[in-house]
Formats: sequence, structure tokens, C-alpha cells
Amino acid sequence: MIDQKLVERAFKNLENAYAPYSRYRVGACLETVNGDFYDGANIENASFGLTNCAERSAVFAAYSKGVRKEDIKALAIVCEGNTIAAPCGACRQVLVELLKKDTPIYLANRTSQLETTIEQLLPMSFTQEDL
Ligand code: THU
Repeated sequence: MIDQKLVERAFKNLENAYAPYSRYRVGACLETVNGDFYDGANIENASFGLTNCAERSAVFAAYSKGVRKEDIKALAIVCEGNTIAAPCGACRQVLVELLKKDTPIYLANRTSQLETTIEQLLPMSFTQEDL
């Protein structure tokens, strides 16, 4: 069942997006098994490639506090577009490193929601097991 409290928190974080170039705001929120929350929003840059996506902001904030994959309960990623924003390829590679393969990921816009996992989003991934 999709955690509506986590989705709502991600929508709140969307308001903090710094997106002057795309005007496309994304919010994220990560919840730990202890009940802590780590917030994220997309942060753009005039050098476009340096933009940080919302989900990476949230996951990096959590890891920066010492949270690790086994501590993570769920991640919500939300946008205001007509379609649900699925994480970009770069974020999928980050998430496959930093989340457990079956950690719930909730994707939502204002009208629809779905639950997925990084294993579903990035099958046949390159990971530390390949090194
Ligand atoms: N973006 C995210 O923050 N997360 C996604 O899952 C998709 C894309 C951001 C990056 C950029 O600031 C804007 O959305 C348009 O690509």
C-alpha cells in the first residue's frame, strides 16, 4: 500500500525545487525504518548537466547522515506533470547502488500513483557484484 504521508511530504518538498530552467519541479522523500525522513528536491544549474534530481538529493541527504540501504523503508518521488515522473537513467544507477533491490519506490503526480522497485526500474544492472 502506498504511504500517503510520505507522498504528501514529497509534494511539500517539491515546493523547494530550484528549477528556473525547466520549470519542472520534482520532490522526493525517503523514510527510514526508524521513522526519520530525508527530504529532496531537484536543484538545477546554468550548466545543465550539473542538475541534481530530487531523488538523488533525498538519498544523498540520508547517506550523509549515516543512513544505509538496510535502514531505508521507502522512497517517494513526485512531480506536477501530466504523467508520473520515472527516475532518469542516472538516478536509477544511483538508486541501484544505494537502495535494496526490493525497497518500495512510490511514484506520483497529482492524479495517479504507482509503486515500484529499483529492480523493476533497472533490470540487468551493473553493480558491485560485477566488479
Ligand atoms: N528530475 C528529477 O528531479 N527527477 C526525476 O525523476 C526526473 C527529472 C528533474 C531534473 C530536472 O531538474 C527536471 O526534472 C527536468 O528534467
